[in-house]
Amino acid sequence: MIRIVQGDITTLTVDAIVNAANQAMLGGGGVDGAIHRAAGRELYEACLAVPEVRPGVRCPIGEARITPGFRLPAKFVLHTVGPVYRDGRHGEPELLAACYRNALALAAENDCRSIAFPCISTGVYGYPIEDAAKIAVREVRTFMSGRASARPDMEVVFCCFSERDKQVYDRLVP
Ligand code: APR
Repeated sequence: MIRIVQGDITTLTVDAIVNAANQAMLGGGGVDGAIHRAAGRELYEACLAVPEVRPGVRCPIGEARITPGFRLPAKFVLHTVGPVYRDGRHGEPELLAACYRNALALAAENDCRSIAFPCISTGVYGYPIEDAAKIAVREVRTFMSGRASARPDMEVVFCCFSERDKQVYDRLVP
């Protein structure tokens, strides 16, 4: 089931919320800052403990990592790193799709029955919301429709911060 809500993702009671992080995973602005503030210092410590794959990189673009949610209502945070948008011809669509796919796979591996996504890459990273939302909805639908690892019973929430973003998703998921 897909649900679209408008609001602050840190308040949602779901098994996992997704963080639009950066490759260092040590916090930032936007939704990343909000999640770190709400989860508390332990989230920073847990992120610090995620091994670096190369200096300064704990989660490469398009991949996902899991930590507990600590003081959040959500049990887990799935950290993923979206692409910085240039013009859509530098691999951005595939990398953004990979964020959704890898976060969903990690949620399923950890027996999550509900997961909430923010609009990854559409803030500081500049991805146009219409294009990003189409990719998000397509990947979630593909995940839910029948591959071996899919969880048709999973609840997926698209958590839009703005009314405008919610309208975009509402048009795609009537
Ligand atoms: N709940 C839900 N959505 C939120 C919240 C919140 N509390 N705060 C912000 N947002 C929304 C923004 O309005 C935007 O639609 O999250 C979406 C993603 O925006 P950003 O947080 O800027 O994420 P992104 O574009 O992926 O850029 C990632 O920002 O702070 C840094 O560390 C982060 O470097 C990374 C970069």
